[in-house]
Amino acid sequence: MAPFDVRDVLAKLRQLGLSLPRIHYFPVISSTQDEASRLAARGAVEGTLVVAGRQTQGRGRLGRGWYSPMGAGLYASIVLRPPAPPSRWPVLSVIAGTAVVEELERLGAPEPRLKWPNDALIKGKKVMGILVEAFPDHGFAILGLGLNVSFSGTTLPEEIHAKATDLEQHLPRERDLALCAARVVRAVFDSYIRSLPHLGFDPQRAERFLWTTDTVKVGSISGRVRGLTSNGELILVDEKGHEVRAAFGEVTDVSGD
Ligand code: BTN
Repeated sequence: MAPFDVRDVLAKLRQLGLSLPRIHYFPVISSTQDEASRLAARGAVEGTLVVAGRQTQGRGRLGRGWYSPMGAGLYASIVLRPPAPPSRWPVLSVIAGTAVVEELERLGAPEPRLKWPNDALIKGKKVMGILVEAFPDHGFAILGLGLNVSFSGTTLPEEIHAKATDLEQHLPRERDLALCAARVVRAVFDSYIRSLPHLGFDPQRAERFLWTTDTVKVGSISGRVRGLTSNGELILVDEKGHEVRAAFGEVTDVSGD
């Protein structure tokens, strides 16, 4: 199979009819997030897309890095200018994450799950990470998409190998990976557009895909996952049977603890 080239995704996006106002491609960049926010600060319109072949300082949520070698993944950032009040913007994460897992299901990926708030898993391993960076004072947010497409030509650091997977391992061999990646991007952007103007979110759509185990922990809260609110918060039931909500953080499995 030919190595994955992110420029093919850009061609497929056009074929799919996703009309984005501007697409900026960089063979190498520090982080597409930085470039997209620089462009947005200079007035780039909603839907401006920044894509890179590789990133030298890709970043993830909670201060982590995002390993971004050439040919292994899609590294993209989209400028958004949500008309809803900034207090509503945190829901962007679950809107995007839900769109990703729904599209993975349509592509035939086995066991796509949404690990709240916005990681997409296939068979328990992370295939995509989403990073929303909000600049409400400037009226924009940058939606970062890191999709693992093909690890076959890459030697992965051990800690990534243990937790991550790629599309290539889970889709039929004849699948066009660039087209699949383009479909994921289109699904995210379409879902965002459909959520406007209020950034409306239907928790039931996402709950079908929600990743969970017996007991999870988010910050200091531990319990069983019950579902999501229309604001995108995670609803947990603690050991006393009380419902508790988490607005941000990371879900970890503490079933065996
Ligand atoms: C996470 O799971 O922690 C989020 C990862 C987001 C990675 C993407 S890759 C494109 C964009 N540029 C970055 O530096 N990060 C995001």
